[in-house]
Amino acid sequence: MKNKYIDLIEQTFEFPQDEFSVVDNELNFHDVPLMDIIKQYGTPLKVTYLPKISSQINRAKRMFNVAMAKVDYKGSYNYCYCTKSSHFSFVLEEALKNDIHLETSSAYDIHIVNALYDGGLIDKDRFIICNGFKRPQYVENIVNLVNSGFVNTIPVLDNKEELDLFYDMNKRCKLGIRIAAEEEPKFDFYTSRLGIRYNDIVDFYKAKIKGNKRFELKMLHFFINTGIKDTAYYWNELNKCLGIYYELKKVCPELDSLNIGGGFPIKNTLAFDYDYEYMTEEIVAQIKNFCAQMEIAEPNIFTEFGSFTVGESGAALFSIINQKQQNDRECWYMIDSSFMTTLPDTWGINQRYIQLAVNNWDKEYQRVFLGGLTCDSEDYYSSETHANAIFLPKLNGEPQYIGFFHTGAYQESLGGFGGIQHCLTPSPKHIIIDRDKGDNEYYTRLFAKEQSYRSMLRILGY
Ligand SMILES: Cc1ncc(COP(=O)(O)O)c(C=O)c1O
Repeated sequence: MKNKYIDLIEQTFEFPQDEFSVVDNELNFHDVPLMDIIKQYGTPLKVTYLPKISSQINRAKRMFNVAMAKVDYKGSYNYCYCTKSSHFSFVLEEALKNDIHLETSSAYDIHIVNALYDGGLIDKDRFIICNGFKRPQYVENIVNLVNSGFVNTIPVLDNKEELDLFYDMNKRCKLGIRIAAEEEPKFDFYTSRLGIRYNDIVDFYKAKIKGNKRFELKMLHFFINTGIKDTAYYWNELNKCLGIYYELKKVCPELDSLNIGGGFPIKNTLAFDYDYEYMTEEIVAQIKNFCAQMEIAEPNIFTEFGSFTVGESGAALFSIINQKQQNDRECWYMIDSSFMTTLPDTWGINQRYIQLAVNNWDKEYQRVFLGGLTCDSEDYYSSETHANAIFLPKLNGEPQYIGFFHTGAYQESLGGFGGIQHCLTPSPKHIIIDRDKGDNEYYTRLFAKEQSYRSMLRILGY
């Protein structure tokens, strides 16, 4: 009878997959035996597999360049990394190996840009796209950046009042305008609070920017919160955005860039099926056709992929420390940490991740619920989040380890890495896995130890 965990996975999904394989009933992630990692570092453990970041960036660049070549697109493609998806130095250091640009979202982000410059990781020609609502400190930091010679800094106006704040610039400053996109019909409201409403943009440009020696409008920005999807809604928004681009271009010849934001999805299930090539080609072809029809030059295209850049590099590994059979049908596996603090999106937005056993693939499986250690009844990961029921090997006296994969984006910043955590559950140890340039062997290094009680007590004033 085929009742082992490995049978279940092989019968349910195409398996093995690019980044997952099983050797001797234990899981490898990018050919790295996770049991070796667990034996060395223990659990709970956060892992970043660095090479995935570069491979994602190069994949996107390749797809856009191929799509552009196919339609003889005249503009350029510019890959920006959206720092808010993971601000860690090791992420930026890896990402910046690939000749990319940056997108920032708040005042402190600019200090990261300065630190990268001081460390010799970027030059002053990089595009620094400054999104987000601009409070005075953010504006001051952006102004200093421009004044110090970052010539391709582009503050993207989120509201009309922001423009006046940039008058201290002692150099001519490039600008962008963010369009307030319409939200998907299922949302509680119609129009995003982020950006300037469609109908106001051209008049605002004419009244405040046109003829103003201080500024040069270069970029129109739009970002669809729910991501780049092959839906009528997405294509409709792209078209509306192109309509505004055309209207603006008629009165603002220096406008030459279209920023389509982030939103490429990542693989969050083994059954993930998304045709990146098709979507890229379709976006590029639609822009190209629109411009040909309207007889305007094709804009340079900018993207700001966050999840896509860093999401698939991350994993979280846990031990099952107890099994609680709470009634005839519900069996809980308790992990040695908290979902709410280590993977806050599972709790906040019902985010699903790839979840697999790390060992015991030859054991029989059973249906379980996964519980976190805080006292909060919401601290769990269930079949609802996971779409299908969760199955894991039956416990048989041996330790059981599990992994959540592709967790590299947003979880540390949303979970307040190193801060106060629910029920004072410490932030787990975090390690980095990289590969040697010569023999391609993997090696690991510890980035952060498990958060100490001292650090929490200090924050709390003890
Ligand atoms: C302006 C902007 N650009 C890019 C992104 C990155 O989106 P994603 O992580 O979906 O690629 C975000 C995310 O919130 C955003 O607000």
